Amino acid sequence: MYKRFTAILCITLITAGCDRVDPDSPVAKRKAIFKELLHTSENLGGMLRGRLPFDAGAFAEGAVKLDTLAHEPWQHFAKQPEGANSSARPELWQRQARFEDLARRLEASTAVLREQTRQQALQPASLKAPMDAVEAACKACHQEFRNH
Ligand code: HEC
Repeated sequence: MYKRFTAILCITLITAGCDRVDPDSPVAKRKAIFKELLHTSENLGGMLRGRLPFDAGAFAEGAVKLDTLAHEPWQHFAKQPEGANSSARPELWQRQARFEDLARRLEASTAVLREQTRQQALQPASLKAPMDAVEAACKACHQEFRNH
């Protein structure tokens, strides 16, 4: 049983290895940041929707992290289309100004959320609208510039 499990694990790792891009490549770097963004925003959204217990301290920390991460993916997009394994649409490089606008929109929305968490006696109700704005900013850019 153990041997069989090990064999399956090896096959899985080999297959994953074939698929994997160089972890230092820009595509891998931005994907890793996007995953972290997703993970962080899901935890915050989960606290507001009752999937996770609301914890004001953890929420405030998560909002700071989200705001920091929101500034990080863009440096890993080159000026020219690049990258196998990328799910970015070619339009991104044809309409870079629009892409950058949407990136700034995300940064602005995470700044508002972060600011909102500085209140005393943080209440989920006051965080819902700014969190919705963050999620809308993710979605707006994905609809225009990401292949699903
Ligand atoms: C300005 C545009 C833009 C914004 C804003 C944006 N994304 Fe993305 N996102 C992209 C693009 C483009 C890709 C595809 C990257 C690639 O594959 O090269 C992507 C990919 C992803 C991926 C897939 C990563 C992978 O492993 O393939 C996740 C998850 C993701 N974004 C989450 C988020 C979350 C969460 C937010 C908001 C907090 C967000 N994104 C905001 C443009 C954006």
